Amino acid sequence: MTRPALDSRVAFPETPADAAGLHAQTAPGHPLALLTEWLDDLVRRDAVEPHYVTLATASASGVPSSRTVQLLAVEADALLFTTNLGSRKGVEMRETGRAAVSMYWRETARSVNVTGSVVEAEAAENDERFAAEDRAVQVARAVSFHGLPLDDEAEQLQRYRALVDSGEPVRRPDYWGWFRVVPDAVTFWEGVPQALNRRLHYTRSDSGWNRRAIQA
Ligand SMILES: Cc1cc2nc3c(=O)[nH]c(=O)nc-3n(C[C@H](O)[C@H](O)[C@H](O)COP(=O)(O)O)c2cc1C
Repeated sequence: MTRPALDSRVAFPETPADAAGLHAQTAPGHPLALLTEWLDDLVRRDAVEPHYVTLATASASGVPSSRTVQLLAVEADALLFTTNLGSRKGVEMRETGRAAVSMYWRETARSVNVTGSVVEAEAAENDERFAAEDRAVQVARAVSFHGLPLDDEAEQLQRYRALVDSGEPVRRPDYWGWFRVVPDAVTFWEGVPQALNRRLHYTRSDSGWNRRAIQA
């Protein structure tokens, strides 16, 4: 007997009645203002880890890849992240200058998809942000390089402990930095299964942001 691959008894998510209301007429003019409202609402609802999101990139030849990252901040016109710029995502962002970010939250049955340009932080900002990190995080970033083969885990752990215990200041590795995704299109989705799900699509033009409802 074959089993269904996924549990079809799981109910389709539904945006809480006191949150629902994604409408072009009442939505903020800037999509990141709406994203901030949605994240604040998730925090008020004690949502589980609402800032872990999916970051997608593609190689110059168009091979896509994605991974989970932490959304560090929603700024006035950008999403802030940190990473190893020599990682696959880092290399691909440098090749294409582009990235996409996907977010989904069970607690509010909402989702946001962003596409945009990548802007790397200057060295001075990277140094300042790195210096503000916990020592254990700094050391982990210094001894581990995203994506390289790990042949001797014990040896790596030894180097990690030795550097943590040394008390020596940890210099920011050249490959570690912060970057911003500056959006050019953002789509918001909310689940309204008893009616029809809603989507609101923002696009950037020379004169600012336009928004319109699109079919879900
Ligand atoms: C919950 C969670 C949060 C993560 N946050 C980050 C992050 O903020 N930055 C980062 O570079 N990797 C983060 N990672 C690790 C990435 O998912 C990924 O393994 C790593 O960045 C290498 O990705 P790449 O080889 O595709 O570039 C996180 C993983 C998880 C599961």
